[in-house]
Amino acid sequence: MSTIGDKYILGQGRSDHDRLRVISEIHDGATRKLLTKAGLRAGHRFVEFGCGLGYVSRWAASIGAEATGIDLNEQQVAVAQELADEEGLKNAKFLHANIHEHGLEAESIDCSHSRWLMVHLSRPVEAMKSIYAALKPGGVMVCEEADVSAVYTEPPNAAYLEMIELALEGGKQRGVDYTGGRRAHLWAKEAGFEIVHVDAYHPHYVEHKHKGFWNWTLVTAGERLVLEGTLTDARLRELEQGMRVADEDADVLVAHSRMHQLIARKPLRD
Ligand SMILES: C[S@@+](CC[C@H](N)C(=O)[O-])C[C@H]1O[C@@H](n2cnc3c(N)ncnc32)[C@H](O)[C@@H]1O
Repeated sequence: MSTIGDKYILGQGRSDHDRLRVISEIHDGATRKLLTKAGLRAGHRFVEFGCGLGYVSRWAASIGAEATGIDLNEQQVAVAQELADEEGLKNAKFLHANIHEHGLEAESIDCSHSRWLMVHLSRPVEAMKSIYAALKPGGVMVCEEADVSAVYTEPPNAAYLEMIELALEGGKQRGVDYTGGRRAHLWAKEAGFEIVHVDAYHPHYVEHKHKGFWNWTLVTAGERLVLEGTLTDARLRELEQGMRVADEDADVLVAHSRMHQLIARKPLRD
């Protein structure tokens, strides 16, 4: 079975780099706390799978870890390396690879991280097994994955509801599960891990520069549906406009996807 990677379709003049920066702004605070809880520290060998522009890897390097970011997108990997070099982070390197064939030495890393990766993969358990192979016994896998079905508005907005349904259905058709964050602990157990910690957080906005992030994200997903022929461009633009009404109304609460956090350990040998 082929791996389904994450390919962004650019829209509205905003690039995949803009999206990754906004993801970093929304999530990095929680990610750093989680990695600290997982015990990441200076001297650890740390690998971020599906690193994008490497925000998390560069932070890990800044606290003294030997950080490697791995991503399927060669262009992003190159930019991540440039950003690390500009910051003078000699202990951050970036590799172009697929998580299923990462090429890392077996049992060589202390801590891994992935965020917004497993829900884009058709074989998340296999991906976790791949991480398992690279971890030292006792090493930890840290994952942060979304449940997109938790996106909602109050009062309810019909355009948001329709777009969420369309995006979830589109994922199902492609063999991926955008609600998968809630199952990350089960995937980890199936891959052989012991569960150490689970939690979740749920960004909510009434007035904030990131309130419209899910409008942007759902429209990006919708553009793919237009290409696949399951949605017309005219309907997508109507839905985008409908969601914008909610985004621009300070009385409307917009909740983003719920992010599920997981720390799982590779068992020590007897
Ligand atoms: C939604 S982005 C998240 C990026 C980053 N983790 C973050 O939170 O900002 C998902 C990333 O996973 C990468 N990706 C998708 N499939 C992959 C695979 N099979 N192996 C490695 N990376 C993959 C994409 O290229 C993309 O950079």
